[in-house]
Amino acid sequence: MIITHFHCIMYTMRKYFIETQGCQMNKSDTERMSGMLSSLGLIKTDNEKEADLLIINTCSIRQLAEDKAFSKLGVWGKMKKERPDIKIGICGCVAQVKSKEIKRRAPYVDLIFGTHNIQELPKLVEQLKEDEKIISVPNTPYKCSEEYPINREKSVNAWIPITEGCNNFCTYCVVPYTRGRERSREMSEIISEAKKALEQGFKEITLLGQNVDSYGKDFNDGKTTLANLLRELNKLEGKFRLRFVTSYPSDITDDLIKAVSECNKVCKYFHIPMQSGNSDVLKAMNRRYNRDEYGQIIKKIRNAYDEVCITSDFIAGFPGETEEQFIDTLSAIEEFELDYSNTAAYSPRPNTKAAKMTDLFLSEEIKSERLARLNECNKAAVIKSNQKCIGKVYEVLVESVDENEGVLNARTEGNKIVHIKSTEHSVGEFINVKITSSNVWCLFGEIV
Ligand code: SAH
Ligand code: SF4
Ligand code: F3S
Repeated sequence: MIITHFHCIMYTMRKYFIETQGCQMNKSDTERMSGMLSSLGLIKTDNEKEADLLIINTCSIRQLAEDKAFSKLGVWGKMKKERPDIKIGICGCVAQVKSKEIKRRAPYVDLIFGTHNIQELPKLVEQLKEDEKIISVPNTPYKCSEEYPINREKSVNAWIPITEGCNNFCTYCVVPYTRGRERSREMSEIISEAKKALEQGFKEITLLGQNVDSYGKDFNDGKTTLANLLRELNKLEGKFRLRFVTSYPSDITDDLIKAVSECNKVCKYFHIPMQSGNSDVLKAMNRRYNRDEYGQIIKKIRNAYDEVCITSDFIAGFPGETEEQFIDTLSAIEEFELDYSNTAAYSPRPNTKAAKMTDLFLSEEIKSERLARLNECNKAAVIKSNQKCIGKVYEVLVESVDENEGVLNARTEGNKIVHIKSTEHSVGEFINVKITSSNVWCLFGEIV
């Protein structure tokens, strides 16, 4: 009897499937969880139907993201009726803030864990074999000494988190609640992770943080800064690129701008979300800069380099936003010549201050109408930005090869995708291309 049971456990835990929603931080977390599960001897599968352990790593940034998590759980719940042996896990930002709701709405879920204890996954999975339901959502980060391999998802780009959490409490944003207070990793730890990735053949390292400019503030030693981290990483041997996301406008220091120009491996690319082009809305959002100050930062950055790409994020329809204030957002995209922007309609989030301003909420109609105009404006800005590249020569990094079409897909320093008719080069190579044409989504080029 015991032996059969044992066999059954071994069988139920053979293959795992992880679905990742949300930002790069979540993707990076998934790569780490996947490494841990592989270390336990589990095998990764991309087919959820053949998985014995299913995990969803969730995002809570907007209601739609959260709905997506619950609807996936619904699908997996039905699968579990047919295959009662499978184990269903949920983690990430929704799990961190809504574990009770998950338990109520999806009682068949076996494992709920948060953003602070992904390092505990091996232990939790062991516990799952005993067939108990587990909810483990600590409120503070769990320290872990054990290092696991990372199953990186991409072949040329390695994500490395440098700081996690956020202290800014923008009034619309759930992240401070899902990720907790800001904390930075030791520089030595980041450098050794970068070295390892480079040894494995990665050609691009993206440093991640909700606020990368805040990196090291918690060490309070004046030396641990993003600028100095870039300087150290730039010294590592070999040909590769460095990037960092996301920047908080008023936290970008002159030293960072200087470091980016000093360090030849650092891409001249900044992602600096503005959120709104109107100073009063920015104030209501609790952003620590106004329209003019944002403009001055952009100007400083553009003046520092021959060419630089600057991308942004904007929210349409923040509570109480007037038509005039919304138009300021459109004009900001044009005035600051932003190369690309992520856009979204305002979505009320649990715990946040803006979610309590219910009497100022705009209708779904107004929000979606503004979002559509925002998208049109962004599209025009992207087309303009892409057209500026035509005739120029860029060094690009090949990310994938489409053998059937005979096309290389590569990326510029400015984070633009370039399609090149050629199969002469392979993934991970740097090549020089001349841009011949463009559309909204990408550039087209030829090898020079
Ligand atoms: N730390 C980054 C952004 C992280 S969240 C920053 O400060 O800029 C990513 C983006 O999601 C934000 O830039 C914002 O544009 C959007 N976002 C966050 N909360 C939102 C909400 N409640 N409704 C709509 N969009 C939101
Ligand atoms: Fe959210 Fe603001 Fe923090 Fe960005 S800075 S993660 S928008 S609270
Ligand atoms: Fe979403 Fe959490 Fe990232 S809310 S955007 S997955 S930090």
